[in-house]
Amino acid sequence: MRNFIIDTDTASDDAVALVMALRQPDIDVKAITVVAGNVPLEMGIQNALYTVELCGADTPVYAGCAKPLLRELETAQDVHGRDGLGDIGLPLQGRAPARGHAADVLRDVINANAGDITLVTLGPLTNVALALLREPELAQRVSHCWIMGGIGAGHGNVTPTAEFNIWVDPEAAKIVYESGMKMTMVGWDISWKYATFDAEQAAEIRGVGTRLAEFVVDIQATLTEFSMTENALPGFDLPDPITMAAAIDPSIAEFENYRVDVTTGEGLARGITVVDVRGVGKRAPQMRVATSAARSAFVDMLKRSVS
Ligand code: RIB
Ligand code: CA
Repeated sequence: MRNFIIDTDTASDDAVALVMALRQPDIDVKAITVVAGNVPLEMGIQNALYTVELCGADTPVYAGCAKPLLRELETAQDVHGRDGLGDIGLPLQGRAPARGHAADVLRDVINANAGDITLVTLGPLTNVALALLREPELAQRVSHCWIMGGIGAGHGNVTPTAEFNIWVDPEAAKIVYESGMKMTMVGWDISWKYATFDAEQAAEIRGVGTRLAEFVVDIQATLTEFSMTENALPGFDLPDPITMAAAIDPSIAEFENYRVDVTTGEGLARGITVVDVRGVGKRAPQMRVATSAARSAFVDMLKRSVS
């Protein structure tokens, strides 16, 4: 069994990533910590609790930070729906998270499994940065941190230069990127290149025919509309799930080691992941960056997780 802990801002693609991890037989998800991002914190908590229940799992869900470290919260409810899960009328209320703050739980789970814990981050890095600020040595105890965030190469999705998770809390991202953790960044470029689903491809997943197969597709209703009208994609894309797939089986992707820095300015200078591909900055690489992925292997993993 491999130990995972997942930090998420639980919207429609996060939920699919949670299903993939929770349904992976050789992974023990020790905890799910929730951070404000796609949706306000309370909504993210309810979405995570609903998804855990749908998977028949008993993984504890913990509340974390309700806003970025220094900035006001900017949500993405126009992208994933007001409830984050496509506004399709799911019963997403009345479930209670476990007691304890996400930053404390991240610390406690990492310390209890030092050297044998994979951290997967699917949202803004506020909770993780807070845990690291309070106990910097945690960075050496995480086996590997898989980050859905930033851009390995190409354009952004919230500004032309920035990806949402990093842009929401760039100060937190800077702290994490400079923490010394063993890290892999799966940028939004990997999602739109290898994890986009048009109507036919979505129907292929839904056609697996289980309640989970219907769930992982139907909750993408708002994301589909947004992706096609705003991102010129042929349908919804799944950044968090392809990141989770790589964390589960790194052989599905290819990587390069680069120095990657995060800008904390305003406007177009906010939340850029500056990937020094030529080593011009003369600083040692500290980030493994995904440069490609095998779509067929990803789709097979996704189908297996909902079968
Ligand atoms: O930019 C894509 C990322 O932002 C994904 O994690 C999505 O869920 C949102 O959090
Ligand atoms: Ca997310």
